[in-house]
Amino acid sequence: MEIRGKAALVSGGAGGLGEATVRRLVADGARVVIADLAEERGKALAQDLGEAAVFVRTDVTDEESVTSAIAAASELGELRVSVCAHAGPVAQQRILDRSGAPIPQELFDRTIRIYLSGTFNLLRQVAAAMAALEPLDSGARGLVVNTASIAAFEGQIGQSDYSAAKGGVVGLGLVAARDLAAVGIRVVTIAPGTFFTPAFQLDEGTAHETWGKSVPFPKRMGRADEYADLVSFLVGNDYINGETIRIDGAQRFGPK
Ligand SMILES: NC(=O)c1ccc[n+]([C@@H]2O[C@H](COP(=O)([O-])OP(=O)(O)OC[C@H]3O[C@@H](n4cnc5c(N)ncnc54)[C@H](O)[C@@H]3O)[C@@H](O)[C@H]2O)c1
Repeated sequence: MEIRGKAALVSGGAGGLGEATVRRLVADGARVVIADLAEERGKALAQDLGEAAVFVRTDVTDEESVTSAIAAASELGELRVSVCAHAGPVAQQRILDRSGAPIPQELFDRTIRIYLSGTFNLLRQVAAAMAALEPLDSGARGLVVNTASIAAFEGQIGQSDYSAAKGGVVGLGLVAARDLAAVGIRVVTIAPGTFFTPAFQLDEGTAHETWGKSVPFPKRMGRADEYADLVSFLVGNDYINGETIRIDGAQRFGPK
């Protein structure tokens, strides 16, 4: 699919992987809605990109908020690409604590709400908007990229909530591709390893030192522009559909 002259939407577009994706889609010729909760960073990015990007304060867990972001993207042009790259807080707790008490259910539910339900809320609404467009010559109407994690496959200790949410995103991918095949919408899931982003709340040197050494090769964290490069490739290749693609330097998480 050719994205030049079309519109795109990126949830978490003011974050690490999101910002790199917004910048790449703009470089590829798209006009992009930065759909994020972070107003200051989102507006600064939009300003930096001029007419090519618009910030829309968006909460992916809220139905109307997502509807508004999609409406704004549709004003920029034909909405052909949606990338789900938001992140939120996670529990980082074992199922039982040292005293044997179980993790509060609300912590699990919060993670599922943001990472899995938020992804689905965007997917279902964006699919409806894309389905209403005329198909391109190829028959394609659009592409939805969801972001899982390698923790969907090798969840570490204390990641029950996050792994379950990301496993849900992986499971959703093929069903969504099958459901939406009739309207020419592809759904592809990216499962990143460890990418240097603000989510780590560490300076770049410390982050690479801490996280990079467990990556076989290249022996460093991923760069957000490497994730964005994969998104751009997925846009251009119509035959990739219903798949989850790991991008992780051959990293496989151990228990800790
Ligand atoms: N960075 C990594 O190593 C890594 C690895 C695997 C998977 N991922 C996944 O990639 C995605 C992006 O991660 P990141 O590292 O870029 O995170 P990040 O923290 O850098 O950015 C996340 C962005 O999401 C926004 N956000 C939070 N709640 C939101 C909501 N309810 N609605 C809309 N936006 C919201 C934040 O404001 C922030 O700008 C996440 O799904 C994360 O799980 C990241």
